[in-house]
Formats: sequence, C-alpha cells, structure tokens
Amino acid sequence: MPTFVKFIFKKYVVGYYSTKIDFLYIIYLSYKLPVMIRTKIAGIGMYVPENVVTNNDLLKYMDTSDEWIQERTGIKERRYADRTGETTTTMGVEAAKIAIERAGLTNSDIDFIVFATICPDYYFPGCGVLLQRAMQMKDIGALDVRNQCSGFIYALSVADQFIKTGMYKNILLVASEKHSFGLDFSTRGRNISVIFGDGAGAVVLQPIEDTDNGILSTHLHSDGNNAEILAMYNPGTHANHWMNGQKLADFDDAGVGEMFMSHAMIDNAQNFPNMDGPAVFKVAVEKFPEVILEALNTNGYKTSDLRLLIPHQANLRISQFIQKKLRLSDEQVYNNIQQYGNTTAASIPIALCEAWEKGMIKDGDLVCLAAFGSGFTWASALLRW
Ligand code: UT7
Repeated sequence: MPTFVKFIFKKYVVGYYSTKIDFLYIIYLSYKLPVMIRTKIAGIGMYVPENVVTNNDLLKYMDTSDEWIQERTGIKERRYADRTGETTTTMGVEAAKIAIERAGLTNSDIDFIVFATICPDYYFPGCGVLLQRAMQMKDIGALDVRNQCSGFIYALSVADQFIKTGMYKNILLVASEKHSFGLDFSTRGRNISVIFGDGAGAVVLQPIEDTDNGILSTHLHSDGNNAEILAMYNPGTHANHWMNGQKLADFDDAGVGEMFMSHAMIDNAQNFPNMDGPAVFKVAVEKFPEVILEALNTNGYKTSDLRLLIPHQANLRISQFIQKKLRLSDEQVYNNIQQYGNTTAASIPIALCEAWEKGMIKDGDLVCLAAFGSGFTWASALLRW
C-alpha cells in the first residue's frame, strides 16, 4: 500500500474508531467500576440534663466569680445530670433514640455501636455494652473509644472506615459525658470544675454512593509528650513510673493489690483531673487551625468555602482565636459553650445537632469538625452535609 494511503487510513479510519472506542470504553468502565462509597450522617440527636447550673450557683462550693468564668472561658452555665437517676450511658441512650428516629430506623436496624466517653459508668466494661442492653439491641459489636476531647472525631473516623469497607450499614455513634460526678468542687479544683458540663450527642452513620457528599476525610493526631498536663492519673496502674520520681499517687502500704486505688489517694485528693490550663491553651490555638487547614487542603477547599466550623467547645477564647486566625466570619463558626460548658467528647455532636436544628446546616453545605484535648490528641473531619 502506498505510504500516503497508509497515512490517510491511520489518521482518519483508525483515529476515528479509536476515539469512538475510547469513548465507549469510558462509558463501559463507568458502569463497571465500583461506585465510591462514603459515609453520611443519616440522623443526629442530642440530650442535655434538665438541671441548669449557673456560674453563681458554683459560688456555694468554691471561691470563684461569674465575671472570672465568663471572661476567661465564655461559659455562663452548664448542665449537671441527676445525681443517681442519670448516667453517662442513659444520657447517651436519650441522644441515640432521637438520632435513630431521625434516620428513619429502629433499634434493631443498628449493626454496630461506637461509644466515646471519658466518664464511663464502670471502669469496665465500657458504656457501649450498657447502651446495647438498655436499648435492647441485637448482639452486635460495641466499641468504646477513649480519646477525650477528640473522642467524637476519632470515633467518627473509625466508623467511617467500617462503612466505607462495607462491613456495616447502620452504625450508632454516641458521645456522652457525666463530668459532674468526678470533679473537685473545692477552690483547689476551680480551674477545671467550672469548665466542664454534662451531656450527650449521637449520630447514625450510613453508606452513600456519592463522591461529593458525606465524610470527605478525617485527620487524626497525637503527641504523648504532654500526657500528664491534662490528665486524671488515678485510679490507674502507673505506679509513679512516668514522671522521674514525681509522685502522681500515694499508695497504701500493701504487698499485693491496693495500688490501683488506695485510701491515701482519696485522702490526698489525687482522684481528680489535673490541668495546666495556660500550657494546654498555648498548644490548642496552634493545633486547631493546623488540623482544620489540613482537612481543607486535602480536599482542595479554602476557608471561604466552609459553611460551618464546629470546634470542640473547650473555651470560647480558643474558638475566637481560631476564627480570627482563619479569618472566618461569625456565621461560619458555631459555639454553644456559653450554655453547656465543655462536654469533652459530647461537645461536637451536641453543637452539630443544635446548629442543624436551627437550620444553619443545609444539604450540600461544607462542614468542618475539629478538636484538641488531653493526650494531646487533635483531629478534624470535613464533610459535605
Ligand atoms: O477541653 C480540653 C482542653 N482544655 C483546654 O483547652 C483548656 C485550655 N485552657 C484554658 O481554657 C484556660 O487556661 C483556663 C480557662 C483553664 C484558665 O484560664 P487562664 O486565664 O489560663 O487562668 P490561669 O490558670 O492562668 O489562672 C489565673 C488566675 C490564678 O490566680 P493567680 O495565681 O493569678 O492569683 C488562678 O488561681 O486565676 C485563678 N483561677 C480562678 N479564679 C477564679 C483559676 N480558676 C479560677 C476560677 N475562679 N474558677
């Protein structure tokens, strides 16, 4: 065949059909390839106890003032669970009922439970199984997550992996805290006890066949170098091992046993949480913006694309610092620490639920969740509602 005929054949005949074939092949592949599965929040609920405790109410127990608390933290009031009528689990159950109903499900549809808390009903077993029992669910798996203020996002990330791999279809994620039971209400503990409150939030997570909606990414971090500056050491098995001879606990004189929890620990008030507030504040204002930007950058978004940032409600001053640093408007950041105090793992789902109930989050909105706390651990999640 003459060269020019070969040329014409290749250019116009082979060229034409290969374009068609490529096109048809792409159509074929788009039907054939597995669809991207993401996790969506199908239902959300929250529960806070009825008992409102104002800053002035705390004056009965300690030397503090409404002015100090509002100026340093933004908190006006918090809720305390009924002393004996409510537990971390029962509050979680109340939030879960709402989330399950809003997802259009019943308890028997749930195929996995994740429960995040640092105030468990028992040291063991965890709250997950207590919730499974209380809600009369099937004998499904129940996982407890202990990541303090980052607990909800850590738990969300775990649940997200289970959904994306197809292992579960309806995961109930609950975060609940009953801090009021374990704080030091004397003046000695005022730097911590005025901050914390009780409450619960819950979400139902389901798979969605969509590349643009649901949880876009989660980002988890930790740095144990400062584990002791925001911690509750006792009861525990540390045996004063970690602090180069510095005593975190006094133990009773016993050959075996009696070290995990001793009379001396209680006598010397070593059974309460400890916090070097200013040191925690300093790292929090650095890590919060970092992990929010990590989530946005990973997905190719800018801060201006965000409809709402829900930061863990640690301190209103911290939220305001983040807002200023990221140049977010007042409408782009949701805070409710003024009403509920810091509810650690529960603070994000409570704030998310409240913002959604107020109509501040609509379908298609870009929402970022971010947390920092004891460990240190810090985390973020970016989702399209
Ligand atoms: O969610 C977990 C992560 N936690 C955080 O992110 C907390 C980060 N840190 C903070 O939010 C702040 O450090 C606090 C709100 C905890 C404390 O505020 P601060 O401005 O850092 O106060 P400070 O601890 O430096 O204490 C200042 C003063 C001290 O008195 P002197 O030594 O200056 O005379 C404290 O004894 O304020 C005193 N103080 C109080 N006074 C009245 C501490 N707590 C109280 C109180 N009422 N409740």
